[in-house]
Amino acid sequence: MPPNATDPPIDGDPEIVYNGADKSNQAPQFLSTSKDDYKLNIFQSSLNQIAHILIGMTVGVMLLFTMRNGLPIGATPRHITLCVLGYHLLMTQAILSLSPHNSWSSRLTLVHRRRAHWILQILGSSLALAGCFIKILDKTVHWNTMHGQFALVSMVFTSVALVNGLASLYANELRGLRLSPNLSKLTHICFGIVGFSAASITLCYGLDKNMFRTWASDDFTTAMIVFVATYTAIIVINPFISFFKKGRGLFTN
Ligand code: HEM
Repeated sequence: MPPNATDPPIDGDPEIVYNGADKSNQAPQFLSTSKDDYKLNIFQSSLNQIAHILIGMTVGVMLLFTMRNGLPIGATPRHITLCVLGYHLLMTQAILSLSPHNSWSSRLTLVHRRRAHWILQILGSSLALAGCFIKILDKTVHWNTMHGQFALVSMVFTSVALVNGLASLYANELRGLRLSPNLSKLTHICFGIVGFSAASITLCYGLDKNMFRTWASDDFTTAMIVFVATYTAIIVINPFISFFKKGRGLFTN
């Protein structure tokens, strides 16, 4: 049955609360009609648009930076290209794809949004981990900078979230093994948030390196760090809400 399965909603599941997506595999519809809910929906859609613009600018600038000397590119630019495409283009879209306010996925059914999520997640994690290993192989001394240490955290949590995501995907089947499906989803969300946040901090430490500052100027570097911090905060809002709602459901059921 998986990965096309949809699971029964738990009490207060944000996927249901926010978008009214039901088990009948219908495209999501906003249940809320009140003026306050309308304003909140517009606010969240606007945040989503801002996040997309900031992601586009960040990824675009990083690609320009890595290609500044033309092709072929060395180990460090290759490392940056793969990490930025993996973590900050594909993985951001993977996380946003589950948000009911996300522009390109909001009209998809729950089944299709989940499919988009795991495909983007696998592609993004693979590119990001490949980018990290390129630089690890290029270095002789490891984890001696804050950039490297946060990268290690992001690699560990991203790998665990990837494996754990499979458990979430097959959550219904794991019921037979007496493993709580909500517990596997909770841990997946938690590892995902930590892995992605660590990747954003890693990128900020990367931007702070002299090689980028010299190319981009101090002011532009500061602007880029603010961009990354802003879209990271916007992206983790929905998983945070899901985490607390699912966590509450776990303890009240
Ligand atoms: C999400 C983005 C990034 C990730 C996940 C990442 C990850 C990593 C990893 C795993 C290492 C090896 C650490 C070690 O073995 O000690 C590393 C090193 C390095 N990275 Fe990145 N990186 C990212 C972005 C960047 C950016 C944007 C730059 C520069 C503009 C950069 C420049 C470097 C340099 C110069 C090193 C070698 C020195 C050091 O370890 O700090 N990286 N990175």
